[in-house]
Amino acid sequence: MPKLIQISDCHIDDQPMVMGVDSQHNLQLVAQRIKEIESDGVLISGDLTHQGTLNSYQTLKEILRPIKQPIFVIGGNHDQADNLEKIFKKSLFKSFKLANWEIINIDSVQAKKTHGLVTQSALLELDQACLNSDAAHIMIVLHHPIVPMNSSWDDALSLTNPQDLFQVLDKHSKIRLITFGHAHEAAEFSHLGITILSCPSTALQFNQAPLKGALKRKNRIGFNELELNENGTINFKTQWI
Ligand SMILES: [Fe+2]
Repeated sequence: MPKLIQISDCHIDDQPMVMGVDSQHNLQLVAQRIKEIESDGVLISGDLTHQGTLNSYQTLKEILRPIKQPIFVIGGNHDQADNLEKIFKKSLFKSFKLANWEIINIDSVQAKKTHGLVTQSALLELDQACLNSDAAHIMIVLHHPIVPMNSSWDDALSLTNPQDLFQVLDKHSKIRLITFGHAHEAAEFSHLGITILSCPSTALQFNQAPLKGALKRKNRIGFNELELNENGTINFKTQWI
């Protein structure tokens, strides 16, 4: 069955230290782990870099070099579209297929704004992509959370028009999974039988309070493993390092 590794919010910068952590070292730790896992690809759900410099994308590419699987990338609010495209052109996608699944990217990023918005044209594009898909099952990926995170995360920084997005999503019965990053935390929700997953950051998590024991650490970093089954069910697990 197809399997994707999802990482998010790597926040690589020109210097190692970002937001009080060494985001380059943390991504190296994640890369070492995921290169050992058999998968069909590594999906990065935005904020590859902290400030979008060309150098930071090159550093990121270098850190990911041990990973031999195909890499699929979408941008986040911290990314700079031109620089991202210069270094990761082959990895950027609107949609791609894995067995009887189609993975569709929705652009939710607004220039120079932290919160997200799905424009009318992006909604139309999504509607068409779902209508035209000959896959049995659809997975959607975007950068911004589409549901309240029920945490210390400020939901005002998430997608500002989730109701517009759900109007389109609810028309399409093939959608099984929606996943995003941006909130720097792992979380699981559901909506009318659709699984909704938040992917943790490879740099640091913002939300420390609700967690207990070993997981309540500042340097907690992780990634998602997603198995997309032929019958449309999903097995998923967040792996912490
Ligand atoms: Fe973000």
